[in-house]
Amino acid sequence: TIFEATCSAPVNIAVVKYWGKNPEKIALNLPTNSSLSVTLSQDQLHSKTTIRASADFTSDRLWLNGHEESIEKNKRLVTCLRETRALRASMEDKDAALPKISGLNIHVCSENNFPTAAGLASSASGYACLVYTLAQLFQLPLDASDLSIIARQGSGSACRSMFGGFVAWEMGSKDDGSDSKAVQIAPETHWPDLQAMICVVSDAKKGTSSTEGMQLTVKTSALLQHRIKDVVPKRMEEMIKAIQDKDFPTFADLTMKDSNQFHAVCLDTYPPIFYLNDISRAIIRIVTEYNKDGIKAAYTFDAGPNAVIYAPEKNMAEIYALLSHYFPGHQFDDSLGLLKNNAAPS
Ligand code: DP6
Repeated sequence: TIFEATCSAPVNIAVVKYWGKNPEKIALNLPTNSSLSVTLSQDQLHSKTTIRASADFTSDRLWLNGHEESIEKNKRLVTCLRETRALRASMEDKDAALPKISGLNIHVCSENNFPTAAGLASSASGYACLVYTLAQLFQLPLDASDLSIIARQGSGSACRSMFGGFVAWEMGSKDDGSDSKAVQIAPETHWPDLQAMICVVSDAKKGTSSTEGMQLTVKTSALLQHRIKDVVPKRMEEMIKAIQDKDFPTFADLTMKDSNQFHAVCLDTYPPIFYLNDISRAIIRIVTEYNKDGIKAAYTFDAGPNAVIYAPEKNMAEIYALLSHYFPGHQFDDSLGLLKNNAAPS
């Protein structure tokens, strides 16, 4: 017999950024601040994973976007697998009628329909998808927050892709990370007028990985300590309220300031980390100019030069026209898309 599950999971883009891990607990991926994101539609961007388990398989194997990769080298994947297998094993111990899947080798086959490692949150949808598919395969009786705790150990931002809509990752305070989990602030149906547009400035692999970058930032940046203590706690509260009230100007103001502070913290890291390029900075100027008589759009940038623009639906055509005017040629033509907020893994 072959046991098999296939699932897909969405990308999320943070509006209050996660940047920094507790240096004493690197393997647990415990963040130095809480964060908040919007889950995007799976129509344009998603990860898709198939996992098969069989007594005929002689080892665990992994294929990413069609290429086989070493599973042992992928420590975080091994952690997610170990955790979910252990949960399945304890279910099998308690119920002799359950098929014994936990001891079987598995084949994992995962694909993104967008470039990996270009700061487009591929690790978020990828690990959310891995953990969700394992949970389906092993029939684990866990809710999305429980699963987010496992996904977090794959990639921090992945915990937020366990829900659709607006999602907070509560940093938690327990040593074992059991309260560092994702919770839904509002479902995808809450604010359908809010849309996201991805502007692919470059699909090249990013220079400094998030993991390396964060560790260096925690070690060297005094600005990060200010952000952790004096900025994020209040900003999380304000952001949650802005979302609940569907208050776009406040949502946009907080989103842009948080993106700016995240990149300032990168610059304050020593040696400094640069994720924005000239085009990213030009986009910031254009959006700022566009907002001069009242906020109509918000930009945000992750660990790469690509912009995500959040705006009410009625402004999107104008923003698209503006950006295409300033950046003619191929750069944005195929890559701009409107994304509705969307649902959890399935
Ligand atoms: C800038 O989740 O990729 O996108 O936990 O090391 O896998 P690891 O980091 P990752 O970092 C994402 C950082 C960010 C901000 C965010 O998504 O909150």
